[in-house]
Amino acid sequence: MNVHLANLQAYPFEKLRKLLKDCHPPGKYSAINMGIGEPQHPTQAFIYQALKDNLSELSKYPSTQGEPAFRQACADWLLNRYQVVLDIETQILPVNGTREALFSFAQAVISPSAGSLVLCPNPFYQIYEGAAYLAGAKPQFINVKEDFSLDWSAVSSQTWSNTKLVFVCSPHNPTGYVMTISEWEHLFNLSDQYGFMIASDECYGEIYFHTPPLGGLEAAKKLGRHDFAHLVSFFSLSKRSNVPGLRSGFVAGDKKIIQDFLLYRTYHGGAMGGMVQRASAVAWRDEDHVELNRSQYREKFTQLVPRLQAVLDVDYPQAGFYLWIKVEDDCDFAKKLYANYHLTVLPGSYLARENQGINPGQGWVRLALVADFDQCSEGIDRIVQFVQRGA
Ligand SMILES: Cc1ncc(COP(=O)(O)O)c(C=O)c1O
Repeated sequence: MNVHLANLQAYPFEKLRKLLKDCHPPGKYSAINMGIGEPQHPTQAFIYQALKDNLSELSKYPSTQGEPAFRQACADWLLNRYQVVLDIETQILPVNGTREALFSFAQAVISPSAGSLVLCPNPFYQIYEGAAYLAGAKPQFINVKEDFSLDWSAVSSQTWSNTKLVFVCSPHNPTGYVMTISEWEHLFNLSDQYGFMIASDECYGEIYFHTPPLGGLEAAKKLGRHDFAHLVSFFSLSKRSNVPGLRSGFVAGDKKIIQDFLLYRTYHGGAMGGMVQRASAVAWRDEDHVELNRSQYREKFTQLVPRLQAVLDVDYPQAGFYLWIKVEDDCDFAKKLYANYHLTVLPGSYLARENQGINPGQGWVRLALVADFDQCSEGIDRIVQFVQRGA
């Protein structure tokens, strides 16, 4: 077996299952799960219909590059959302959700050589770490600071020299932090100096309250980088259109990297089924359902956060659907909340690694406001009771 498999850690939800396995929540409470970030707003009927209308695509092998109509829908969305123009022949590719794409991207861009590093935010989406190990590199974490921006100053020039790939996630899971244009400028300058690639995970970019978060391609354009050098951005329909089961996203950016990634994907077997492409194109072209989706999140956050703020240290995220809440002992908090109130939240330490003497997720819990309003409201009431009673 691949020796690097031994480096893969249990997924956060597996660790959580272990933590909670001996708890027996009281029967008077129904189970509420705010631990996992799986979208639960209903999928719109027009997306089901588009899938049904294209069932005949099942009888064909799809091409890895994807249909022009799919890529055109993505390009039109990028223009509308970020005012950037990308060439559908060379700069856009379909992917089967960003999870597989983030993973396979690392395999495609990293040549196995001793000492290669992949930089990841800390806390982070666990795929980045596994992708780095299985590509024969090592993850190097960058802790979030108090304001949730990344502490780039902690990265030495030696580390930068060995860095092949940097994962950024903006809006960030779990903190909701959105990278600023000056952070992008700093990162682009470093990528020019050291030659690493940037994988920008933007799967929460459509879940925001008022101001659309700055995107990586948008930042590049604003900084005069019209070729998007060293940058590939990852977009997903899972959260935008409430279709996590569709497995649909796309990547866009630097022409040379995208073309090499296409070659890799041809062998990897990363083609997106034709009916998924057709339904996805319809979804990328519609904004009404996305605004409806955002308004549902907006309603939950504006109604529920003040209730939590009465008892806990918590702020609105800049974007995304998570609350990142300061507590004392995150595992103890999650365990007692489950044992006494049948409510699941995720300990922040499971989303981060010890780095520079601290685990920056320790002392935090992540809550996903994905369920409907009433369930989220009930969950928040239970937390308020729990904190007020101390058990
Ligand atoms: C930060 C981040 N990136 C990527 C993904 C993967 O999303 P998908 O594969 O559904 O596009 C997730 C899923 O939760 C995520 O939280």
